Amino acid sequence: MKMLELQQVSHYYFSKTSYTKALENISFSVQPGEFISLLGPSGCGKSTILSIIAKLMKNTSGNIKIKGEPLEKSDAEIGYMLQQDYLFPWKTILDNILLGPKIQKRYDETIENQAKKLLQEVGLGNVLKQYPAELSGGMRQRAALARTLMNDPAIFLLDEPFSSLDYQTKLKLEELVSNTLSNYNKTTILVTHDIGEAIAMSDRIIILSAHPGRISTFYEIPIELRIESPMAVRKHPKYQPLFDKIWQSLESAKSDNETGELL
Ligand SMILES: Nc1ncnc2c1ncn2[C@@H]1O[C@H](COP(=O)(O)OP(=O)(O)OP(=O)(O)O)[C@@H](O)[C@H]1O
Ligand SMILES: [Mg+2]
Repeated sequence: MKMLELQQVSHYYFSKTSYTKALENISFSVQPGEFISLLGPSGCGKSTILSIIAKLMKNTSGNIKIKGEPLEKSDAEIGYMLQQDYLFPWKTILDNILLGPKIQKRYDETIENQAKKLLQEVGLGNVLKQYPAELSGGMRQRAALARTLMNDPAIFLLDEPFSSLDYQTKLKLEELVSNTLSNYNKTTILVTHDIGEAIAMSDRIIILSAHPGRISTFYEIPIELRIESPMAVRKHPKYQPLFDKIWQSLESAKSDNETGELL
């Protein structure tokens, strides 16, 4: 069964005098355990797609299903990780991770041990009692990853989670996120502006064009690249030709540039 299915999803943002057609007829599906990346120019609606899937807003038209069930009826947990970590500065790292289970009233010793284990896995086992301000950006993003995993989401949404990090930290974090999510067999949608990152982490890439946001091209990542770690993918002979092809697709998606109409 498909984990997620979008059928002809369109979305408008309205203001008093105008509207923006942010998405037009977006249709794609994601298999359980699949890792998909959305690539496209700024304003093509990538974050809008994630916010709709996360139920932060309702699409204007079209259908979305999770495991065959309409999104609005589904109680599937959706994990959403953003560029900013949104950790609470007054809580320790461990308490930040335990906040979700505490709010959901499912906190107990087993949950606390699970939180410690997850923090260990993301390399934060020795900073449990420290505060977010005492950690580097990369460490905070790792804490955010652990916090999102703690809720055991059926679908993991990542909106440019590495874009504020330096290049080396970003590569290491890609590696960690990729390993962790595949160990937990998570279905993932990553939004990124980085073609290399999309190739290195994904099973499939969706290229979008802007104004309105539409699907332009799908790329299947060859199996030889999928089985490699993100770091190794970048050194594989198949990497650069694919990078160049996707670059071209993005260039043509960017030149497809109508503006929003006024009412
Ligand atoms: N709250 C909002 N109100 C009005 N228009 C919005 C709102 N949020 C987004 N938009 C518009 O919808 C379109 C898609 O925006 P969105 O943020 O989804 O793009 P994006 O692909 O995530 O861009 P970026 O790569 O810059 O993050 C843009 O034209 C944007 O201006
Ligand atoms: Mg965005």
